[in-house]
Amino acid sequence: MKILITGGAGFIGSNFIHYWLKNHKEDYLLNLDKLTYAGNLENLKEIHSHAHYQFVKGDICDSKIVHEVMKGRDVVVHFAAESHVDRSIMTPAIFTQTNVNGTLILLEAALKNKVSRFHHISTDEVFGSLGLEEKSKFSEISPYLPRSPYAASKASSDHFVRAYWETYGLPITISNCSNNFGPYQHPEKLIPLAITNLLEGKKVPVYGNGRNVRDWLFVEDHCRAIDQILTSGKTGETYCIGGLTEDISNLEVIKKVIKILGKDEKLIQFVPDRPGHDLKYAINWSKIKNELNWKPQSDFDTWLNITVGWYKKNISWWKRLKNLSFEKYYRKQYNDL
Ligand code: NAD
Ligand code: TYD
Repeated sequence: MKILITGGAGFIGSNFIHYWLKNHKEDYLLNLDKLTYAGNLENLKEIHSHAHYQFVKGDICDSKIVHEVMKGRDVVVHFAAESHVDRSIMTPAIFTQTNVNGTLILLEAALKNKVSRFHHISTDEVFGSLGLEEKSKFSEISPYLPRSPYAASKASSDHFVRAYWETYGLPITISNCSNNFGPYQHPEKLIPLAITNLLEGKKVPVYGNGRNVRDWLFVEDHCRAIDQILTSGKTGETYCIGGLTEDISNLEVIKKVIKILGKDEKLIQFVPDRPGHDLKYAINWSKIKNELNWKPQSDFDTWLNITVGWYKKNISWWKRLKNLSFEKYYRKQYNDL
């Protein structure tokens, strides 16, 4: 099988490429990535010259390149996106450009080239926010109620993907997953930011009162779920993917990281809340469990320990990402922290 992967130099995409090459040795992967601040070829350096892997630097909004790389592909796995909520609050327009227009260009090319599957990677954030005390969870039938520019752009892309199935019969699948964590995640996101700041002896910024809740999914569990969807999923369907977490607040997550690293809780710094900050995400993943026999392999604490260990072992990887332009972003986002 020939697979086009978009955004394969980012966090989840690069984990997916490693996973796929290990588990599907007969397949050929082409990775199309623009290499924005979030794209990092270092994530893929071990497989750089693998005979079944090819990299093309390019923008999914560039119709010519997209049509070129789509030729002869059987399957598309679409990860490429602007992915950070805080950046979407600062600069929303690039989120519509890449996440909506880019997806539309990919859909057109996929249709023209008659791919047998277009899998779209989306987020639980399209469903909005649950109340902190609410017991219900997001599922495939939850209404779309996005509340941040990032979530609005992903929601829009999901609608286009579904429209291409309903209108033109493009064989699509969509997955809406919760917050991923694990190796190769950019230090702008909560868990790697906490780990790397603590390793540098810096404070960890916690928005608001730290009571917001996320559903945490280890990236390798996510890759296995995508594999199940590509192999056994039904076209036209959506699958929700979540982790084995029970309402852990951001503050508890940070405290766990502090404990693993043997640091002091005095390093927690409460900072002004994110505007429109979603209170809680929780995913009901019984559909993918029942229909495709998927479940996370371990619980949050086990995966968190492994993740912290990876960042401790790969200091030069994340130090390079905490460069001047990250410093500039950091100062804008967190003032003088
Ligand atoms: P990331 O920001 O780490 O990586 C995004 C990748 O896309 C980068 O390599 C970047 O260079 C590339 N890219 C960005 N714009 C591009 C463009 N115009 N053309 C080509 N390439 C471009 O993101 P991630 O965390 O790996 O997320 C991957 C996907 O999963 C995204 O679609 C995101 O919305 C979704 N998702 C992520 C999470 C999470 O917790 N990280 C949760 C749910 C869904
Ligand atoms: P983040 O990793 O940005 O993912 P998302 O916004 O997509 O859920 O944030 C995870 C949670 O952590 C979210 O509730 C916001 C919070 N957060 C902080 O408290 N401090 C931070 O510095 C960051 C980046 C996030």
